[in-house]
Amino acid sequence: MSPFGTSLRTEVGGVDLDTPVIVASGVWPMDPALWPEGSLDGVGAVCSKGLTLKPRDGNPGCRIVETYSGVLNSIGLQNSGVDHFVAQELSAFSFAGRPIIVNIAFETLDDLVETVEVLKGSALKISALELNVSCPNVTRGGMTWGIHPESLESAVTAARRAWNGILWVKLSPQAPSVGEFAELSQGCGAEAVVVGNTWLGMAIDNERERPFFENVFAGLSGPAVFPLALRAVWEAAGAVEIPVIGCGGISRPQDALSMILAGASAVEVGTALFVDSRLPASICRELERHLREKGLSSVGDLVGRARR
Ligand SMILES: Cc1cc2nc3c(=O)[nH]c(=O)nc-3n(C[C@H](O)[C@H](O)[C@H](O)COP(=O)(O)O)c2cc1C
Repeated sequence: MSPFGTSLRTEVGGVDLDTPVIVASGVWPMDPALWPEGSLDGVGAVCSKGLTLKPRDGNPGCRIVETYSGVLNSIGLQNSGVDHFVAQELSAFSFAGRPIIVNIAFETLDDLVETVEVLKGSALKISALELNVSCPNVTRGGMTWGIHPESLESAVTAARRAWNGILWVKLSPQAPSVGEFAELSQGCGAEAVVVGNTWLGMAIDNERERPFFENVFAGLSGPAVFPLALRAVWEAAGAVEIPVIGCGGISRPQDALSMILAGASAVEVGTALFVDSRLPASICRELERHLREKGLSSVGDLVGRARR
């Protein structure tokens, strides 16, 4: 397990973690055998890619464009469906030896409930369900679940009723008020909020004089979004009692520390792992260094210290 000291052990939204560093949804293959050597060092939990009720081929055309400060992605939730995940992928995934967070996406509330029912039948332990509310609500003309309070409320309430395990809600940064939406999730019974997902952006192929992506817009992640995500974490942490998990643009060890000082109880790291698969270990070393320097004994002591 983690070579890092007990000072980094923490409990976040009902999940015991050896370290507060989580691999974000969608960035690593589901088979840990394919992960780069040493990449699990410092990792406290791993999150699955976004699962849907039925298999999805994902979006046609261009899916990733690198920007000078991150990436735009339009993967379109390609996955083999929740049945296949439970039957085939979950056992391989559990070889990571870390708590498993299962990220789910849905188009309707019926999809959501059916997906949860399949996960409930899993023989292997799922430490938490992470509800991705950045997917389109087809019953509201494709508007993202997480940007309308009633949609968000209905989704979190349905997930809460269907799932008796730990529930995390991964908020959309496009929400008009991250603080209010975090509070709403808390009120509907979430044990933690993840703040947040990718930020809508776009890119134009100047030679073709067309947008790169078939859907025109795509999700921006990586260093460009870090200050935006940090602000969102600050707002959410000021609005709720439940833990906030910071996610967005963490690319250096000090970014993770800033998120925690802003009020995050743990962090999720995504895009930066494409560049540095050993970032989780570097983050842990930075957190331990900072704890020593400040004479503190546990990572929990750092949470929200910039707010005093
Ligand atoms: C290629 C790619 C695929 C992703 N797939 C998912 C997904 O399936 N579900 C989800 O909730 N987030 C997904 N995300 C969003 C990340 O989990 C993370 O929230 C976002 O990228 C911001 O963090 P980062 O800047 O550290 O990458 C994906 C991101 C990327 C780059």
